[in-house]
Amino acid sequence: MEKLVSSWFNNKTLPQSYIFPPETRPGNHIIPRSNTIPVIDLGNASAHDRTLVVQQILKASQEFGFFQVINHGISEDLMNDTMNVFKEFFELPAEDKADLYSEEFNRPCKLYTSSANYDGDKVHLWRDSLRHPCHPLEECIKIWPQKPTRYREIVAAYSIEAKKLGSRILDLISEGLGLDLGYFGDKLSESVVISVNHYPPCPDPSLTLGIAKHCDPSLLTILLQGDVFGLQVLNDDKWIGVEPLHNAFVVNIGHQLEVVSNNRLKGAEHRVVTNSTVARTTAAIFLNPSEDCIVEPAKSLIGADESPVYRAFKFKEFLYNYVKMGGNSEKSLEPFKLHG
Ligand code: OGA
Ligand code: NI
Repeated sequence: MEKLVSSWFNNKTLPQSYIFPPETRPGNHIIPRSNTIPVIDLGNASAHDRTLVVQQILKASQEFGFFQVINHGISEDLMNDTMNVFKEFFELPAEDKADLYSEEFNRPCKLYTSSANYDGDKVHLWRDSLRHPCHPLEECIKIWPQKPTRYREIVAAYSIEAKKLGSRILDLISEGLGLDLGYFGDKLSESVVISVNHYPPCPDPSLTLGIAKHCDPSLLTILLQGDVFGLQVLNDDKWIGVEPLHNAFVVNIGHQLEVVSNNRLKGAEHRVVTNSTVARTTAAIFLNPSEDCIVEPAKSLIGADESPVYRAFKFKEFLYNYVKMGGNSEKSLEPFKLHG
């Protein structure tokens, strides 16, 4: 518990173990906060502009691997309640969170700091995180935090809505790829996990990171970013900042969608920088395949002029390798690539 950044960050100097090597630290560069990352209006998706929305999503997923959605159907009240209950969780007195703190890799609902393998970290990350499954709700809600008192009620409502939104986006993606409707609906997106990140103000944001460069192991990620900047995406070897937009969600393509789309869609690398003035809280909902789900390039995308880039594998095989490779994007997919 005392390892949590939020327990000691007031000390004011950045401990050596949080200092990234020069080649991966963010430095003092000014990173443009770009409006190049597409903002897609989902309010259009039910009308005659559905085809346009499908095209926008597909283009964004091919070029950036990232986009934001507005008019997505999740109410502003629910978004605010959810963000507030997460902030309140991290503000609870230590004794109310102590039972949830764990350094055990496989504990399903846990509060931890840095990465899932604190002792194995080369450099620690400037973040605390609360992580738990969200589906099926009746089963997993029992292990969620009991404080703040409205946590379970609000996060239950939120996770149901976020899964629905994710499924809607996956349907639009499958339409864009020319896959059968509902292609992603079953086992490929069955597991829903939330990861709530909390990044306290940091004494030297130029030397450390909240999350190091990675690509999500998920199928699709839906991020509630809040209103504090910190997320950066690598595009054409340059970092660009993802502008916090009021009432928008950030959506990104995970490694599993790269595989299913046979590399048509891009799982973009991203990282989180810290800031010295305000705490930042974000919540990522990962739509993942179930552990035993077979992931492979969609058969209908493979034809005379296109051979599969990946072999079929079980999602748990992928996860095992992802963790072993420390989330390194190239190496995470390497064992599943078909060569020649
Ligand atoms: C993640 C992630 C971004 C953020 O949790 O995988 O990339 O802004 N989070 O917190
Ligand atoms: Ni991520």
